[in-house]
Amino acid sequence: MNFTDVELHLDADLASTKNLTEIQNLQIKYLGRKGIINKLLDNLSKLSTEQKKKQGKAINDFKSLIENKIKLRQKLILHTSFESEIDLTLPGKKRQIGSLHIVTLAIEEIVRIFKTLGFIRMSYPEVDWEYFAFESLNMPVNHPARDDFESFFIDFPRHAKYGRLLLTPHTSSGQVREMKRVKTPPIKMINIARTYRPNWDASHTPMFHQFEGLCIDKNINITNLKGTIDYFVHEFFGEDREIRLRPFHFQFTEPSFEVDISCSVCNGTGNVKNIKCKLCKSGWLELGGAGMVHPFVLKSGGIDPVGYSGFAFGFGVERVMMMKSGLKLDDIRILYAGDIRFLEQF
Ligand code: PHE
Repeated sequence: MNFTDVELHLDADLASTKNLTEIQNLQIKYLGRKGIINKLLDNLSKLSTEQKKKQGKAINDFKSLIENKIKLRQKLILHTSFESEIDLTLPGKKRQIGSLHIVTLAIEEIVRIFKTLGFIRMSYPEVDWEYFAFESLNMPVNHPARDDFESFFIDFPRHAKYGRLLLTPHTSSGQVREMKRVKTPPIKMINIARTYRPNWDASHTPMFHQFEGLCIDKNINITNLKGTIDYFVHEFFGEDREIRLRPFHFQFTEPSFEVDISCSVCNGTGNVKNIKCKLCKSGWLELGGAGMVHPFVLKSGGIDPVGYSGFAFGFGVERVMMMKSGLKLDDIRILYAGDIRFLEQF
């Protein structure tokens, strides 16, 4: 048989193979020890060295061709046998796609807004020394102001200089840490972190989130504070919302304010069709605390309070998230209950 005959034979054989066993038989028939190709080699011995070389190469090339043809058919059989085993008309399996928690979504939005003003996001320890949570912020040991920040203390040996270890009750504990990190202003930080206070009821979870803005530079004043919060409120809640600063007291800011935002239900009037607004009762909703950084705090952070001034504010993430979405939760503990029926709605 010459090459052409062998190839024609093989084509006919391949066309009639239906399964892998038949393919295997063909492999033996053509490529096996006593197979057709090896038979072709038998004739070589009768040829001259020159012709042997030439013919030997031709046979080897032909062998590759045969191998490839068999392989190709084998692939085809494998493929079709797989397809015949599954029903291609069956609907596909739907993959469960996860989503971000609503609080995470709110954090991302807050970070995005402050980023456009040049604030950088920082994260400071959630377990920190009393010094950073209180003393450095002008709240000495035994000062009654500490009562506003009831805390979880950690059972751990106290630090000679920094006192006890606690779960941070507010993000203000990052203020002095940021000053020490940057050393020379300008400082423009947005610190978003988990905060902890021992409260557990329908409107409190022992773990919640705050976002803290800190801006320190030369000539920073209340206008900068108000403008920054204004910008945030317009971006986050909408152009039609207004803010007001109400005098308040914090140890670490002077002067201090509570920031209120005009109510979306009554547009800041306190009345809806001559009836007291059910949501705010006064036209305003409380957003959180703010103020001009107290000179004591600047000194704690190693910053000269004569050359520099700054503002700070601290708001609750869950609070602004709920105010924005209009989400009314009978019990906010659902946020952290890990209940998929609640979470998958967002
Ligand atoms: N840390 C304060 C709180 O948790 C809020 C605040 C932050 C007030 C920064 C003033 C300046 O209530």
